[in-house]
Amino acid sequence: MSREITRTTAPPARRRRTALLAACSLLATGAGAVAVMQTPAAAAALACNVDYQVSDWGSGFTTTVTIKNTGTAAIDGWTLTYDYAGNQKLSGGWGGVWSQSGKTVSVKNADWNKTLAAGATAAPGGQFTYSGTNAKPVSFAVNGVACNGGTTPTDPPTTPPPTTPPPTTPPPTGSKVDNPFQGAKLYVNPEWKAKAEAEPGGSRISDTSTSVWLDRIAAIEGVGTGMGLRDHLDEALKQANGEPLAINFVVYNLPGRDCAALASNGELKADELPRYKSEFIDPIAAALADPKYASLRITTVIEIDSLPNLVTNISSRPTGTPQCDVMKQNGNYVKGVGYALAKLGPIGNVYNYIDAGHHGWLGWDDNFGPSADLFAEAAKAEGSKLEYVTGFITNTANYGILKEPFYTINDSVNGTSVRQSKWVDWNRYVDELSYAQGFRQRLVQAGFASNIGMLIDTSRNGWGGTARPTGPGAQTSVDTYVNGGRLDRRIHLGNWCNQAGAGLGERPKAAPEAGIDAYLWVKPPGESDGASKEIPNDEGKGFDRMCDPTYTGNARNGNSMSGSLGDAPISGHWFSAQFQELMKNAHPAL
Ligand code: BGC
Repeated sequence: MSREITRTTAPPARRRRTALLAACSLLATGAGAVAVMQTPAAAAALACNVDYQVSDWGSGFTTTVTIKNTGTAAIDGWTLTYDYAGNQKLSGGWGGVWSQSGKTVSVKNADWNKTLAAGATAAPGGQFTYSGTNAKPVSFAVNGVACNGGTTPTDPPTTPPPTTPPPTTPPPTGSKVDNPFQGAKLYVNPEWKAKAEAEPGGSRISDTSTSVWLDRIAAIEGVGTGMGLRDHLDEALKQANGEPLAINFVVYNLPGRDCAALASNGELKADELPRYKSEFIDPIAAALADPKYASLRITTVIEIDSLPNLVTNISSRPTGTPQCDVMKQNGNYVKGVGYALAKLGPIGNVYNYIDAGHHGWLGWDDNFGPSADLFAEAAKAEGSKLEYVTGFITNTANYGILKEPFYTINDSVNGTSVRQSKWVDWNRYVDELSYAQGFRQRLVQAGFASNIGMLIDTSRNGWGGTARPTGPGAQTSVDTYVNGGRLDRRIHLGNWCNQAGAGLGERPKAAPEAGIDAYLWVKPPGESDGASKEIPNDEGKGFDRMCDPTYTGNARNGNSMSGSLGDAPISGHWFSAQFQELMKNAHPAL
């Protein structure tokens, strides 16, 4: 859990397109050349050009092969053939019937694009996996005739030629929508729904979308009898029922996870970056890139509890830990995040949101700018690019209020700024919405695209119920003013574990405010933040005293009481009493 311590333009095309004008001819020999027997009769009638484009993410790629009829007569029925030199393996295709025999790939026309008039094009697309080198094929043939029309295609290389989409299997889109949540249904996780429905009163919220947490390697196949990644994607296709649907995954398994706390330490040791890559990110990327799921809008929350810790919780700070020093020195948070982005970003229907802490963590000047710059560094690590980032998320699994209506950061009492109150303590922000919008601008300055969007986890920041103030605090001092009027009822802003008095917040909603792509319920309400006492487990989870209601605190929470609920199970496990309290204190009320 994260702790302590009007968009107008369409996004740039996020796929890398490299053009190869196929200079295919009978002279092409060597690896990759198609053996073509050119019969004089066929050659007389048929002439073609092929334009081959790839979008490659290192272990796989999609290709669009544009066939142009450069002859004078229509081609009635076509089969394209070409060879790969490497171990490229077909996983699926569209815009034609794709097959592979050894190194030779064949694409037969679909019914709807069978006839190619003179000058017309067809552009089938395929998806492949590979290892090693992904050399482009050197020659192509249509109906056994080498495509050597000798003219460059008239289409400009960056604009895909117009094609009629196949009716059933849409290709992955070459450019992403600006806000994947806009106009989309939101996925309901059947496993969370069942847990919510088993609770008295739970059916009032059980149809709400919550995120799916990929919090260990086993989550990809499914923990025990639980649903795995592909089970969720298959279920998402059902729920989509042909309409746009967004499904959000939390990618959460970095080496040395959660270096500043104990409750969500994970399975990978600080130096296990190779396992993170090959056993965690690679299989996730392979599943998400499956063309079967091309119609879904797949969003990801990339690695909470990580990058901000390298700014705020290293030993040069009073709150530093040796574990965070290790992660800063070995670079494995930065490399892990970069690798995840590099693998997931090129997939045409995957949208990455990086964790950006929350206002009670990064809202101070010392933390704000350096974190934005570090995020930009991570987004360029390990072959990633800034454009692989759709946006950022704040407040994941935290309790920061969305909006404080009864005071603002610009208020003062008797000439003293609220920034000097004990609660605000020189922070620049008093709530998540103003923080997310302010941080968005700083991220753009750091180099991210001007159309990035923010997400806010509103699952548990409602702070409703009977203790909710109904007006501003008394203007006796900045402290009476802030404490009397603030909706966030925590004992200290740095408290983060199973907070007593919290309630469900805004329901998930697309484009609720300027610069905000969505409010989401990322932390599934009812799942614990950490055990209130030591509980042995095989998940790598430790016991963090911030989850113990008798704990009197440390430097990160101003040596205050932890404010957590008692009798809590380990993080991620179902905590019925908390679920009930969240419903009771929901705001908006249920
Ligand atoms: C835990 C994860 C869990 C997630 C969602 C985190 O605190 O460490 O294991 O999946 O919360 O409840």
